[in-house]
Amino acid sequence: MAKNIETSMKAFVADRQRLRYIFFGGKGGVGKTVMAGATATWLARQGRRVMLASTNPVHSLSGLLDQNVFGKPTAVEGVPNLWAYEIDTKDTIERSKQEIRDKIQWFLKFADISTKADEFVESATMNPAFEESAMFENMIDLMLRDEYDMYVFDTAPTANARRLLGMSKVYSLWVNKMLKSREEARSLRELLSFTKKKEADPLMDYLVSFRDRMGKAQKLLTDPSLTAFFFVTLAEALPIAVITRFIGWFHDFGIPVGGVIVNMLIDKSQVNEKSPEFVRNRVEMQARYMDDVWEKFNGNVRSIIPLYENEVRGVDMLSRMANSLFV
Ligand SMILES: Nc1ncnc2c1ncn2[C@@H]1O[C@H](COP(=O)(O)OP(=O)(O)OP(=O)(O)O)[C@@H](O)[C@H]1O
Ligand SMILES: [Mg+2]
Repeated sequence: MAKNIETSMKAFVADRQRLRYIFFGGKGGVGKTVMAGATATWLARQGRRVMLASTNPVHSLSGLLDQNVFGKPTAVEGVPNLWAYEIDTKDTIERSKQEIRDKIQWFLKFADISTKADEFVESATMNPAFEESAMFENMIDLMLRDEYDMYVFDTAPTANARRLLGMSKVYSLWVNKMLKSREEARSLRELLSFTKKKEADPLMDYLVSFRDRMGKAQKLLTDPSLTAFFFVTLAEALPIAVITRFIGWFHDFGIPVGGVIVNMLIDKSQVNEKSPEFVRNRVEMQARYMDDVWEKFNGNVRSIIPLYENEVRGVDMLSRMANSLFV
């Protein structure tokens, strides 16, 4: 086991000219948002048109960039070729609810069922996965609109992301089943009707387009030449445990893992026996956990970022971080 970086972040990206979708995962607070920002900044500096997007209902891009990027793609001041966008999840949820309401109403009418749609709408939208699935759809919409060279996503915390990915499979199963029963219902109805003309079927059309979009997204998200998920960790037990589990799940789902980034490592050269005990202890602790990192993620560590004297905010600081991420 070599205790050094074999393929750096820079080499990894350079080796994949078709790479388009980049994600960051990891435990809360480890630096996913700043890594997404630094990566997007660096890619934009290479002349690619880059979209830095957040689908997380708790946004932090505006804070990171010191600029309001909520609700629409916004050019980032001071970084040519970079756009940032905090997607309004609330708005999407309202829109999807309305869409579902329309579809259900149409279906009830179609099936001659005289019930109020409200009950069905409630049960379809009042589940905890609804918000996540709205976020997932937002992300896919952005990807499929195909307006940028590269997309860097600031993803939601770990467990959600896994559910989102699992969901695309479930979606497709569910929609296929729905389609089958819709087709049966339709041919029965056509058999029984005297006119042979085909009826418009918005629910069916919706399901087909939905399944197709999910299928496309699944294809993009599982293609290792197009997509990479990077995992951010600290040299500490919990963040390492979290991404170890995460990487396992991603392998199971066939989602390409780009590698591991270690963040907030204290620069040893700044520490000596006169440094406060607190600092010396932390340095020692980090050194111990770095052994774990090299062992567990052998060959997949892409970058090690120092703990800065300040929080990472604004494009200057992001540039500095980008230089250390893509060294
Ligand atoms: N290398 C670093 N040096 C100093 N501060 C850092 C470093 N990396 C991140 N930070 C700071 O740590 C905090 C957490 O970073 P960030 O918001 O990117 O984490 P996150 O993983 O996105 O968190 P969440 O799970 O809440 O979305 C921020 O205040 C950020 O500025
Ligand atoms: Mg974040």
